[in-house]
Amino acid sequence: MKLRKFVDRLPIMETLRPKSKNNKGAYYEVRMEEFTQKLHRDLKPTRLWGYNRQFPGPTIDVNQGEPIQVRWMNNLPHRHILPIDKSIHEVAHHPEVRTVTHLHGSETMSVSDGYPEAWFTKGFREVGPFFEREIYEYPNHQRGATLWYHDHAMGITRLNVYAGLTGMYIIRDKQEKGLNLPNGNYEIPLVIQDRSFHEDGSLKYPIQPDDPAANLPNPSITPFFIGDTIVVNGKVWPYVEVEPRKYRFRILNASNTRAYQLQLDSGQPFYQIGSDGGLLQNTVKINKLAIEPAERVDVILDFSKYEGERIILKNDLGPNAIPEDETDEIMQFNVNLPLSGKDNSSLPKRLSTIPSLIHNEISTIRNLKLVGSTDKYGRPLLLLDNKKWKDPITEKPKLGTTEIWSLQNITGFTHPVHIHLIQFQILDRRPFDLDLYNKDGKIVYTGEAKPPEPNERGWKDTVAAPSAHITRLIVKFAPYTGDYVWHCHILEHEDYDMMRPFTVIDPDRDGK
Ligand code: C2O
Ligand code: CU
Ligand code: CU
Repeated sequence: MKLRKFVDRLPIMETLRPKSKNNKGAYYEVRMEEFTQKLHRDLKPTRLWGYNRQFPGPTIDVNQGEPIQVRWMNNLPHRHILPIDKSIHEVAHHPEVRTVTHLHGSETMSVSDGYPEAWFTKGFREVGPFFEREIYEYPNHQRGATLWYHDHAMGITRLNVYAGLTGMYIIRDKQEKGLNLPNGNYEIPLVIQDRSFHEDGSLKYPIQPDDPAANLPNPSITPFFIGDTIVVNGKVWPYVEVEPRKYRFRILNASNTRAYQLQLDSGQPFYQIGSDGGLLQNTVKINKLAIEPAERVDVILDFSKYEGERIILKNDLGPNAIPEDETDEIMQFNVNLPLSGKDNSSLPKRLSTIPSLIHNEISTIRNLKLVGSTDKYGRPLLLLDNKKWKDPITEKPKLGTTEIWSLQNITGFTHPVHIHLIQFQILDRRPFDLDLYNKDGKIVYTGEAKPPEPNERGWKDTVAAPSAHITRLIVKFAPYTGDYVWHCHILEHEDYDMMRPFTVIDPDRDGK
């Protein structure tokens, strides 16, 4: 499908309004439903699954310190036939659509975290082994940050998310409000995803018809998904009209597998002010922004010198890109609106204070391998520390303690590793010789440990762990005990089987 670029205006997701207020704070309701939406001028409406019949879902916008409740309602069809390839009749033993919503990046009690086995189907005809409740509570005690919610149902997250189950969640705090950053109409969320389409407008999630896996349970398991079309806020290659002034963009990569290297064809820099867990300590001026699946970057762009110009947000595909690949472009900024008043917003150098975890007492160092394997049918399978989801829990940090997680990537590519419940800090990355490792299992370093890039020196919940590197994180496990998960955020990896449970234990109560 060849679709013209920059013919549709960038939509802005609507902000969700609470249904009511009670002593636990504002109460919201969100329905997951099947619906159709026009994603491009020349494309027939696409059948999607979404929150409140929107793709992406409505933005939840809250203040720090104000807890909310959300009732996540599954109103999806009984038959589990995704609105994508007809060839995919997912997971025959679960004829109904299983969903469970996770608020990515949030510090939430285990029962409201969206544990993958806490799924439920329409009308609760079936519920997962960990199902507890439909109404989730979000405390919002953490600092201001750009979070996002998405489906997390065991084994089918990639398909549920691909079908449209994603949305943004913003926490605002006083400290950030005091910085006078561009706001209101000048603060724009950008949810970037890649998709492929059939001629009839339906989503395409390709498997080869002669794939030997086609007759297996869960046939659509592929090791990755790369779409040929870029969608931002639910429109294919959109444009946005802007004034010649500063704007703030909260960028989320909500793609299944694809990482982006963002650049502006005007040559102007991004001023990055925030990462996954909110504001950085200092603004980072940067020309090329790498963003892995699930990562967020919060940037200011200054269009004041570009009146009348059209600026393309590019995606650098690297030296091996093929010319037909259209995904080297993402969207366009048309600087054609008149300035509606003087731009009084600031671009501060200093943003916040980030206390380093490095001075904490380290209670445990965990060496965890990111590895490739094959299943009994010969399909590729990726694992964390050689363990599958069903294997007994091995990571049991104690509440309030600080640990170092040392991620040793012995596969051939980068994995964006995500840990629930907390925001962590990146310590360093160190390269080692992968051939030698594969030959005799020894780690021979080929360089020094490198500190994280300046724009990674804030709070993170997802980290790029590159091939043949040991990526070290420093993590404090608080403020809740209970069951959570950590996983690769390439959804095709997460589903098969690069996800593991972990339990935060209270040493006083749970013993040990
Ligand atoms: Cu964004 Cu475990 O998820
Ligand atoms: Cu998460
Ligand atoms: Cu991965």
